[in-house]
Amino acid sequence: MASTKSSPLTIPLFLTWMILFLQPMVSSGNHAFSIKEATVQDLQLAFEKNQLTSRQLVAFYMGEIHRLNALLRPVIEVNPDALYQADEADRERKAKAPGSLSGLHGLPILLKDNIATKDKMNTTASSLALLGSIVPRDAGVVSKLRKAGAIILGKVSLSEWAHFRDGGVPSGWCARTGQGKNPYNISKDPCGSSSGSAIAAAANLAAVTLGTDTDGSILCPSNNNAIVGIKPTVGLTSRAGVVPITPRQDTVGPMCRTVADAVYVLDAISGLDYNDKATIEASRYIPRGGYKQFLKIDGLKGKRLGLFRNEFFNVGEGSVYAKVFERHFSTLSGD
Ligand SMILES: *[C@@H]1O[C@H](CO)[C@@H](O)[C@H](O)[C@H]1NC(C)=O
Ligand SMILES: *[C@@H]1O[C@H](CO)[C@@H](O)[C@H](O)[C@H]1NC(C)=O
Repeated sequence: MASTKSSPLTIPLFLTWMILFLQPMVSSGNHAFSIKEATVQDLQLAFEKNQLTSRQLVAFYMGEIHRLNALLRPVIEVNPDALYQADEADRERKAKAPGSLSGLHGLPILLKDNIATKDKMNTTASSLALLGSIVPRDAGVVSKLRKAGAIILGKVSLSEWAHFRDGGVPSGWCARTGQGKNPYNISKDPCGSSSGSAIAAAANLAAVTLGTDTDGSILCPSNNNAIVGIKPTVGLTSRAGVVPITPRQDTVGPMCRTVADAVYVLDAISGLDYNDKATIEASRYIPRGGYKQFLKIDGLKGKRLGLFRNEFFNVGEGSVYAKVFERHFSTLSGD
């Protein structure tokens, strides 16, 4: 979260400082490890070095949710079994050889509330109409996450019915928790429909999150909350058990704080699921060994980047947006 100076933002500034002061350091021996802003790799390394347990990690995020949710409102439900699942993960880690566990093992993830979980939590697409409804099984991506050892920490808000209830409803508004707020500036639009996923990732309320996209619902909130979202090709990730808009465009994807984190999540959730026929064709194109092999520090070297400036990035010449945009674009191009 960024700190700010103007008067309507006294509260987030105060909270930012509270986070800095309360930021827990889990220590073992002389080395302290800080959870806040930690990446998937940082967390896995801390697990391996016995500097952190999944229980401590889940407890940390639950504390952050408790402290920040009244202001930012992304989290609808916390999984009552999350600490129990964390203990399971800690036991498994002790029993298995270091490095033998998958990339998401023992890591808490928050799911957009249109993704079904067959557990104690509700799946409502942010609508009161679905409260208490019973889903037949976990969504395809949730089964894959559980197999990858992830801990389902809870459900996060979305623009109600993924913004397809009524075009006039503000982005990020959820019948169950109210208006989701952008942690960088609570007066700014968090965008939707995966608003809760983006807010939660930006505010460090989970290690990683999942969103869904039909026409911009991962991309726009990722942009507005300064996180990394991947909108996968239709069929690369299963839509089975996800409240649908249209099978031609719906897709489930990672929303995370770093590119590498998003890739670890994509590797965990992509692939064949017979409950979504589109995955049969699309899964044939997944490279052997997944996508993480392409995480190279100089991966963009020699690549040509194309930009539709006037169509999509017409941000107003000389404006602060234009300057920020150009700065980030030169980071990509290595200038
Ligand atoms: C936060 O957003 C409001 C509304 O757009 C704007 O007036 C204000 O200047 C922003 N604050 C900062 C520090 O950018
Ligand atoms: C699911 O919704 C019911 C209301 O129908 C509520 O009583 C229950 O607490 C919700 N579950 C969780 C985990 O919040």
